[in-house]
Amino acid sequence: MAERLGVAVVGVGGAVATTAIAGIEMIKAGSNSLAGLPLADRDVRGMAAYRDIEFGGWDLAEDSLADCALRHGVIGDKELADGASSMKDMRAWKAVGSKNYCANIDGNNKLEGGHRAAVQQIKDDLARFRDEKSLDRVVVVNLASTERVPDPDSPALASRDAFEKALDNNDEAISPAMLYAYAAIDADTPYANFTPSMASDCAPIADFAAERGVPVAGKDGKTGQTFMKTVIAPALRDRALHVDGWFSTNILGNSDGLALDDPKSLQSKLGTKGSVLDQILGYKVEDHIIMIHYYKPRGDDKEAWDNIDLTGFMGQKMQLKLNFLCKDSVLAAPLAIEIARCLDLAHQRGQGGVQEQLGLFFKLPQTANGNDPVHGFAEQQAALDHWLATEPA
Ligand SMILES: NC(=O)c1ccc[n+]([C@@H]2O[C@H](COP(=O)([O-])OP(=O)(O)OC[C@H]3O[C@@H](n4cnc5c(N)ncnc54)[C@H](O)[C@@H]3O)[C@@H](O)[C@H]2O)c1
Repeated sequence: MAERLGVAVVGVGGAVATTAIAGIEMIKAGSNSLAGLPLADRDVRGMAAYRDIEFGGWDLAEDSLADCALRHGVIGDKELADGASSMKDMRAWKAVGSKNYCANIDGNNKLEGGHRAAVQQIKDDLARFRDEKSLDRVVVVNLASTERVPDPDSPALASRDAFEKALDNNDEAISPAMLYAYAAIDADTPYANFTPSMASDCAPIADFAAERGVPVAGKDGKTGQTFMKTVIAPALRDRALHVDGWFSTNILGNSDGLALDDPKSLQSKLGTKGSVLDQILGYKVEDHIIMIHYYKPRGDDKEAWDNIDLTGFMGQKMQLKLNFLCKDSVLAAPLAIEIARCLDLAHQRGQGGVQEQLGLFFKLPQTANGNDPVHGFAEQQAALDHWLATEPA
């Protein structure tokens, strides 16, 4: 019998999560193609089939997932009628939230109590999910709103011991994203961070994952503008076209955009978007400017513009313009699904700690042992292909 994989999502009522769930439910109902799923054509032993995935998860929103999805406007009544109707009966589990970490997002479906109680509740939720849905394995994927950057010098984040004490003391240095990541690892459940929030990349949590042999990966899904940047920049480098400046701007009007309208959350996103170019090109681009604007009329139909100023042979100046009219969640949802399947495969293969081969899915790939992240897309794709094809002896 086919083995069933549970995907427990932090932020299960969000645009990316509900798009992923609707897509999988439609596949189960036989009404969808596998278009847009990057690993659909791979035949890898042990990798869960899309139709064998079950979703659950936490959210601050209380509504049914169908209502959440309709509010985001990515899927509509047609998709719900075409196979995703089970979302009408799906509701989120109570979430750990904090206005301190995410100023613009709140809701009533919230857990009360301190850090340790939250960790226990998250672990109980995972165990209940597994039993109720008769799942063989579970992974956790964080698709919640972007949190502000925690204080990097906080003593609570300096070591495993300090982190444990901070959990006991309900220290404010520990964010909700960290609590979910810690609880997942404690429950021997792989964890992926699709958000820019600090979680599995926080040193004590990364150490915890390595110590327990639990696969983790992050952070911040690489879906639109940064994806294009990491495809184009290596080609410019290889043709010796010098990048004098790269101006990137975006408009988006979904609730992710609203979360990023808070300057502190925005800082987390700019941090993950900003790092790719210099590493790929091998020199510092002085004028690498990135702007993100919340512009409500666009909803999930994000628009990204890039202007690249180049110098070529004999110092001649050129410009390249890129305009990506994308659908934010339609690009992101398939990646979240593939990340879950890959992390589950890593767990089955006995590969714990940071999964660097999943770097192509992320803007700021988490690495182990202080390794520099690889950002160039072709190189990242080759690393994933090699891993998928290499079964452990
Ligand atoms: N293309 C993309 O859409 C894309 C790309 C890369 C990264 N991301 C990241 O993925 C995340 C989700 O994006 P989205 O567009 O679905 O956002 P969204 O605002 O639609 O969804 C986020 C959901 O998280 C919930 N939430 C907030 N705090 C929570 C908490 N502490 N616990 C549980 N739930 C919580 C919110 O209620 C909301 O339902 C964001 O962090 C975003 O930056 C998205």
